[in-house]
Amino acid sequence: MVTLISNHPDETIALGESWGREAQPGLVIGLTGELGAGKTQLVKGLARGLGIATRVTSPSFALVNEYRGGRLPLFHLDLYRLDTPEQVIGAGLEPYLFSPPGVAVVEWIERWTAQPVRFRRVVMDSLSDMVRRISYEDFGD
Ligand SMILES: Nc1ncnc2c1ncn2[C@@H]1O[C@H](COP(=O)(O)OP(=O)(O)OP(=O)(O)O)[C@@H](O)[C@H]1O
Ligand SMILES: [Mg+2]
Repeated sequence: MVTLISNHPDETIALGESWGREAQPGLVIGLTGELGAGKTQLVKGLARGLGIATRVTSPSFALVNEYRGGRLPLFHLDLYRLDTPEQVIGAGLEPYLFSPPGVAVVEWIERWTAQPVRFRRVVMDSLSDMVRRISYEDFGD
């Protein structure tokens, strides 16, 4: 497991950007962290690193936003409104969480319990106004 300290939103975005540049198809990046932990900032960086020009916004009722036009498609999911894995399946999101045709980044991944094929688990904590602790670990190939 790797643990980093981010002292500014731009540092969190830069981390996401480096991940986006090297991401392989089928990667699922699962984000855990309270409201305001910086999950969406990381997603902004991911999109940038994949070469996606569209502005990233939080998925609301759609549950998943798809961004095309980059090196790989980016699927941005937010499971906040879903309470159980059964609801995630009912919403049709399971294929994105197993092996997406591109990169899937998932806010509130703890709502889901099954293991993606290729998975990076990320935990983000607010230490102060501007300081975030970001830990991550890769599973699968
Ligand atoms: N080091 C940092 N890294 C990331 N964000 C930071 C940092 N310092 C301050 N912030 C601020 O914290 C907020 C993080 O918001 P963001 O929408 O990314 O959180 P989130 O985890 O996606 O929350 P939500 O669960 O509501 O979607 C932003 O306003 C950002 O500017
Ligand atoms: Mg968010």
